Amino acid sequence: MRIVIIGGGVCGLSIGWFLARAGQSVTICEASQAGRGATWAAAGMLAPQIEAKPGSENLFPLLRDSLHHWPDFAAELYDVSGLDIGYRDEGCLVVARDRDSQEALRFHQAYHDQQGITLQWLSGPEVRSREPLLHGTVSAGLFSPDDHQVDNRRLAQALIIAFQRAGGLLKQDCPVDRMIWKNQRVSGVACRNGDTIPADQVIVAAGAWSRRIKGFPSSINLPIRPVKGQMVALKMDADAPLIRHNIWYRGIYLVPRRDGRLLVGATVEEMGFDDHVTAGSVYHLLKRAHEILPSTAELPLIETWAGLRPASRDNMPILGPVPCEDAHQNSDSGLIIATGHYRNGILLAPATAAYIADYCLSGRLNPAIATYGPERFSKKTSPQETAKMTKTTTAGH
Ligand code: GLY
Repeated sequence: MRIVIIGGGVCGLSIGWFLARAGQSVTICEASQAGRGATWAAAGMLAPQIEAKPGSENLFPLLRDSLHHWPDFAAELYDVSGLDIGYRDEGCLVVARDRDSQEALRFHQAYHDQQGITLQWLSGPEVRSREPLLHGTVSAGLFSPDDHQVDNRRLAQALIIAFQRAGGLLKQDCPVDRMIWKNQRVSGVACRNGDTIPADQVIVAAGAWSRRIKGFPSSINLPIRPVKGQMVALKMDADAPLIRHNIWYRGIYLVPRRDGRLLVGATVEEMGFDDHVTAGSVYHLLKRAHEILPSTAELPLIETWAGLRPASRDNMPILGPVPCEDAHQNSDSGLIIATGHYRNGILLAPATAAYIADYCLSGRLNPAIATYGPERFSKKTSPQETAKMTKTTTAGH
């Protein structure tokens, strides 16, 4: 089978790797450089437990499912690429310094208990025994041992190697202009450089840019928007890192990398495709980081960046086949969507790859992704029906 994937981010590459190693002929068309969009900009947290919030109940099973895929996914990727992707399992802490944020932690824990997620309550001294350099006023924390992290940039490099070693063809600087259709089935893509690539199946995994591709069937709406996130990186001594866990504090997070980088993120901004780094946001992130980990003030600031998370209208991913436009034809259209992962693209990559690749190969949709299909945004589906299908309205954080 000939498969074209539009988009060479973490999901496009992961799906491509799974399909290529299953013997399919797979081409990824990436508009710029593979793995350099939202995948590059992410923090690589694999933290569904600590990040679970009211409103995200319908997404939680898929997040947790994907977390369970991660150890094997990371090990297989290492075997084929030989690259260490910095998979770390020290766990994640969310900490409070004052009475208000301690109250917020209590609410957080009660909500997690209701959802069957066990987080461990820590007193201030218990938090500092795990992370001695946190501010002396830290008064409480919640510890989630099962939340992990991966170095998303190394992950992207490893996926490129794995995909190509499995026989996949990666076309970079190759934006797709439109999908080509024949008899109600997608039959390929037309690239902006004038090339056409024939295909039996086309998978749209172009993140925030997905709806810019022309040729979607008129019945389907793809309500994907970019949500900007700004981040900074500081340089710690890799042999004496300031922290070992991912730490959340008042809406920001600190993520220590083995190479000594300390990531501080992230803003959540509805700014369209604007990707400027602003002084105000850098100030905000550094101020919060300093409040909780004062020695950050002494670290060199080595990088700032902004990424565009792909969010759907209900902030849940869009995963699955686009039905054939003619309702009387009992077949799919060959067009498959895998985007809208919003704040969870890195975490969801293994499950996305497993279930989308499985659909391409078998034609059967795994129940694990049945509620995330593109039909919930069909022009024939009312917003009420959409809400009923997804049984939630917001899943973002
Ligand atoms: N997943 C972290 C973020 O979106 O900022």
